Amino acid sequence: MTSHLRTDRLRLGVNIDHVATIRNARGGLHPDPLRAALMAAEAGADGITAHLREDRRHITDADLEALIGSISLPLNLEMAATDEMLGIALQHRPHAACIVPERRAERTTEGGLDAAGQHNSLAPIIARLKDAGIRVSLFIAPEAHQLDAAARLGAPVVELHTGPYSHAVTEAEVAVELERLQRAAAHGAALGLEMHAGHGLTFDNVGPVAAMPQLAELNIGHFLIGEAVFTGLGPAIARMRAAMDASRA
Ligand code: PXP
Repeated sequence: MTSHLRTDRLRLGVNIDHVATIRNARGGLHPDPLRAALMAAEAGADGITAHLREDRRHITDADLEALIGSISLPLNLEMAATDEMLGIALQHRPHAACIVPERRAERTTEGGLDAAGQHNSLAPIIARLKDAGIRVSLFIAPEAHQLDAAARLGAPVVELHTGPYSHAVTEAEVAVELERLQRAAAHGAALGLEMHAGHGLTFDNVGPVAAMPQLAELNIGHFLIGEAVFTGLGPAIARMRAAMDASRA
């Protein structure tokens, strides 16, 4: 691995969507995603990630406004490539926007964005976001043709979908998925893309991903919010931060 591809500081973006999921299960105001974001900052997060979905099943427009107005950490807005979401991003101007696929029926972001197949619809959205000074990333499967497409689209960042790795069961499956991620991280970095990764990461599986020298950022949510039930959010984030740093070292 050549040294210019190495990123020494691996940032942790904490996704707070599922604080809102718990709140919305009852309605009302508790637990408050903004409070979680402020706690995450204290616990060592480098950024806050929130996904404003078309159906607003977790984060709401009011949450987004509160986050933009109150947090000091950079906000990474996950969004579908729609006119509605583009308008919201341009209005609020988060630090970053991560374009994700979104189908109404899915429980979470199941597959990566088809950057290769959707070039013509993605290009104007990426251009508008970049013109507004928003750092654009594309959430894609760890496949060379998707990375090539992201580079052709002028996206400065891609986030590799770690879902298949996280959900792999046997040792052989884990090894296959890890190798796909490693190859993609190297390929993307060689294309000049800033490389991120996320989805389904836990204390147990984060190590080999955090060890990939090309990665600059991991975005982690569901596991941390779940773990917070047992240990508190701050300790869960601090432990993840420590696991990432230990792997990188
Ligand atoms: N990155 C992206 C693009 C996502 O859509 C998600 C899930 O919202 C995550 C990271 C975080 O995944 P998880 O909640 O499984 O940690």
